[in-house]
Amino acid sequence: MVLPSMLLCDFGNLEREVQALEAAGARALHLDVMDGVFVPNLTYGMPIVEAVRRTTDLPLDVHLMIARPGEYIEQFIEAGASSLTIHVEAVDDPRPVLERIRQHDAVACLALNPPTPLEAIARYLPYCDMVLCMSVMPGFGSQPFEPVALEKLRTLRAQHSDLILEIDGGVNEKTIADCTRAGAQMLVAGSAIFHSNVSYKQSLAELTGLSSSAIGRAP
Ligand code: DX5
Ligand code: ZN
Repeated sequence: MVLPSMLLCDFGNLEREVQALEAAGARALHLDVMDGVFVPNLTYGMPIVEAVRRTTDLPLDVHLMIARPGEYIEQFIEAGASSLTIHVEAVDDPRPVLERIRQHDAVACLALNPPTPLEAIARYLPYCDMVLCMSVMPGFGSQPFEPVALEKLRTLRAQHSDLILEIDGGVNEKTIADCTRAGAQMLVAGSAIFHSNVSYKQSLAELTGLSSSAIGRAP
């Protein structure tokens, strides 16, 4: 599944953007929440998640790039998040936060940055429905893809067939086939959709096609 990252969308026309992505075939949306503390950039919080929720029934994959994510879980669930991703680098102990996400029937996801080794998340995997391997340092769209994420995906896929695997950062026409072959099912794409010269429908179809054919499946 290719998930458009709303970071690069036109926020002045949020409802229109969401509807256009839905009409273009998006099956879920990725929302990047940044606090200017955990990452050197600021985006938005619960009100935008809530505004997107009012305009669509699509699953909302909310990526929390914030310090102390545990303080905001219930608010993001109430705002309409379907899955919540916290960063292992942002908390001392991810377990209670992941457990709370699950208690609210949302998908619990743990993310790790490119320099963070898999060992840092190993003991928390029983509390994860999904793992996000970052293929850029979080904070900004349009950064170059870091292949270290592929090695992590391969290792996780070989050892944990039940885990949903996601990749985020620099996913585009050149990198998406490798991501899928490495085991990623959730492919987040920002600039490859929003800075492309073709329509949302065409870029989503191209990315989905490249991803599917990499593993010999029909799109
Ligand atoms: C990076 C964000 C990503 C970003 C992806 O901090 O988590 O979701 O928007 O953008 P691209 O696909 O342009 O790297
Ligand atoms: Zn993201």
